[in-house]
Amino acid sequence: MAQLDKQKSIFERYPHLVTLRGLAPDDIIEQEIGSRADEFEKDIERARKTIPSGNLNKIFPPELELQSIKMENFLGHWGNVSIEELCKICLIVKFIQPKKILEIGTYNGMTTLQMALNAPSDCITYTLDLPEEISASLQLSQLDTYVSKHFKDKFGTSTGSYFKNRNDLKIIQKLGDSATFDYSEIGNDLIDIIFIDAAHDYKNKEIDSEQAFKLLSKKGVILWHNYNDVTCPDVTKYLADISEKRKLFHLRNTMLAIYYNG
Ligand SMILES: C[S@@+](CC[C@H](N)C(=O)[O-])C[C@H]1O[C@@H](n2cnc3c(N)ncnc32)[C@H](O)[C@@H]1O
Repeated sequence: MAQLDKQKSIFERYPHLVTLRGLAPDDIIEQEIGSRADEFEKDIERARKTIPSGNLNKIFPPELELQSIKMENFLGHWGNVSIEELCKICLIVKFIQPKKILEIGTYNGMTTLQMALNAPSDCITYTLDLPEEISASLQLSQLDTYVSKHFKDKFGTSTGSYFKNRNDLKIIQKLGDSATFDYSEIGNDLIDIIFIDAAHDYKNKEIDSEQAFKLLSKKGVILWHNYNDVTCPDVTKYLADISEKRKLFHLRNTMLAIYYNG
């Protein structure tokens, strides 16, 4: 069976990847995803042993799932989180009642907007993405480069465009490379919710995550997108690697992994 799988193209093996066709060249998709699919399958098998999957009520009190949330302009496009992921992120924001949120990887700002809509009125939502001119020293995977440089244009959005002119919300947009960004720029108070969704290679995921563990408040939550996602195999590999030391969960029916200090 595994042998047969190896003979298939990445699109036959993972049919949902056809949605990427036309957004990035097929040969890059084969190179970055196809060539690593077997390694990904091993990593996800390993991760399942230490990262339990469950509903939100496995991690938080059951009342969390009974809350109502607010969403506006939430359909998004390729590169955004799914609707179910978004609902779960908003429910977590509602439950935690954060004073400070940080999203690493703004993209079009769709998730930023929903988090800010569900946060208390005194909460500040910071969101960080790369500036237009990316420094030559920044090393992104080819797919991350496509997402960062071309996807928003293809969908007619721009960095943070979903929350542009939302002066009713306390969203502060920052531009910089998350690996070298000086986080004291967003104040020294610890952060209650950190959403890690920038570069998806191992090294950057490790840098962003270690930074997040340092910045997290006592009852804080870290969320990672693209766990259990063949498109970004290093996210699963990294989370599997840290899951023996850090208690992580996978939110069922999503590609979200979570660490909760509560
Ligand atoms: C998948 S998108 C984020 C999606 C967004 N969080 C959402 O839920 O709608 C990844 C974003 O991370 C940004 N990014 C990639 N590498 C980065 C880095 N080193 N520092 C800051 N942002 C980065 C990209 O420019 C891109 O906009």
